[in-house]
Amino acid sequence: MTRLVICVLLCVASFVHGGHEKYEGHQLYRVAGFNEQIRELEASLDVLSATPAARSDSGKLEALVRLAPEEKEQWLHYFHRNNMVYTKIADNLAEILRKEESEIQFSKEAAKRSGKSISFDTYYRHDEINAYLDELAEEYPDLVTVINAGLSFEGRQIKYVRISSTRFENLRKPVIVIDAMAHAREWVTTPVAIYIIHQLVVEASESPLTQSIDWIIIPLVNPDGYEYSIDVDRLWRKTRSTAHDGADECPGVDINRNFDHHWGTVSSSANPCSIIFEGPSAFSESETRVVRSAVMSNLERTSLYISLHSYGNMFLYAWGNNATLPPNGLILHLVGINMANAIDEKALDKADRYIVGNAANVLYFTTGTSRDWTRAVGIPLTYTLELPGYEYDFIVPPKYIKQIVTETWAGIAVGAQYVLSTW
Ligand SMILES: *[C@@H]1O[C@H](CO)[C@@H](O)[C@H](O)[C@H]1NC(C)=O
Repeated sequence: MTRLVICVLLCVASFVHGGHEKYEGHQLYRVAGFNEQIRELEASLDVLSATPAARSDSGKLEALVRLAPEEKEQWLHYFHRNNMVYTKIADNLAEILRKEESEIQFSKEAAKRSGKSISFDTYYRHDEINAYLDELAEEYPDLVTVINAGLSFEGRQIKYVRISSTRFENLRKPVIVIDAMAHAREWVTTPVAIYIIHQLVVEASESPLTQSIDWIIIPLVNPDGYEYSIDVDRLWRKTRSTAHDGADECPGVDINRNFDHHWGTVSSSANPCSIIFEGPSAFSESETRVVRSAVMSNLERTSLYISLHSYGNMFLYAWGNNATLPPNGLILHLVGINMANAIDEKALDKADRYIVGNAANVLYFTTGTSRDWTRAVGIPLTYTLELPGYEYDFIVPPKYIKQIVTETWAGIAVGAQYVLSTW
């Protein structure tokens, strides 16, 4: 415990250093359009999220986009010309980010005073998360093993935990794999992963979910991007790698376009400056390879894979590369619905209800996603889980973390129970 306490004392003063000036005067707009229109925006605009449009405008998508002052008029004309309905959501992104920063600072201090080694009322840095995982393994050696799975591009240790009451030696048990923070700016995903670990190890270790399932949980896939999003650019999404042509101007790769599933088949992901850059080759990123090796380590008995993202209240299943379903599409849908219902039951009144569906139908075509790749290599149930946001999509104020982690756990538990009941 002491190590983390010391770190918290030292690290608390420095959670966010901002770099928010670059967003001074940037505005957020919500814009509705057909799926292909929204998808096209992703190639040249910062699309913070895309979700099915409000029920009144069904058949369309809504995107939250950031417009810099100098490009704003041009884009509003573009939306108008293309019959895309838009509304302004926020006037000054820098202001929103400064408010978030001070809320996090406040929540860190409160969490520190509480004296707990981890709290679900605030966000932690990469080294704090790693220290917590190591502590847990020390404290629960019969249940938790920390795997130092590889280094990020900038040399940070990416860890994952294996949770098993039989040290992964009983090959008759099913395996569930969960990862978080492939996208750096989606901060609430790591607390959700940590909470799942916490439930399985600390709160309910005697339950069948812990005793009869082996779990692999990767709480922070993209530490370089995450740390960069704290220190320099809150909206950073990709890795920080520079091993591709064009990296001087546009470093980083979108991990969730870097998997080897129809990789390299659409041009909009080939531009290094786009937020969905797929990388110079499939699995070019060490971060992606960590997920691959975790998944491949126990593939034959892995029945459920969930990749945690933010934002949108959605369970998305394969395929993303075309709008057909895998052979077990009906089961994917049913299990997705059951997980979603369990979450909705615990959600805040103002939350949007979860949407469950085929990724290409609900949103648009994507290639190289972890969800499609894991389905293709043989895991029967694989999902992208887009968590709720409440304020500015993936900018989730710390006061909502506890709500999101507890409601999401309810859904994960239902998925795990399904795995057990059919194994
Ligand atoms: C859609 O993609 C899947 C996964 O790659 C593939 O198995 C299937 O044949 C494709 N279907 C069509 C109609 O292209």
